[in-house]
Amino acid sequence: MRGVVCKVCGYVSLSENDVKCPVCRSRNVFGIKENAYKMLDVEAPIGELEKKHIPVFTIVEECGLISGSVCLDVHVKIGEVTHSMFPEHFISEITFYINNRFVENVMLTSNVNPAAVVHLKDSMRGKIQVIESCNLHGRWFSEVDIK
Ligand SMILES: [Fe+2]
Repeated sequence: MRGVVCKVCGYVSLSENDVKCPVCRSRNVFGIKENAYKMLDVEAPIGELEKKHIPVFTIVEECGLISGSVCLDVHVKIGEVTHSMFPEHFISEITFYINNRFVENVMLTSNVNPAAVVHLKDSMRGKIQVIESCNLHGRWFSEVDIK
């Protein structure tokens, strides 16, 4: 997919109006990049690379972490077949967006599982998007609608 990408850190903007990169804080560094990320082709059979890279969502309502607050946790693991986490081949980043706006970036080392969570206020609903980054196979996109 064509995307708007920070030329300093590689962050993919889904809003097209960002001036400042929310990850590396650089200003006026966005440019168009062909093949900025990959996503599932719903009309093609799912391949082995897709099975290991497409983010998979689990939604958890009201986890109780912040007392007195209604919340929504979005758990993401990479992928349907769990991606490897070896130093030479691992998931290095998982970025969360809501309605095309950045909300969280999680940097990973090969010492952890290929997964992350964003803990949202209950009022934050809509399209939750994730782009993960594999050090060998690039960035992969998936989204889920939360009513
Ligand atoms: Fe990979």
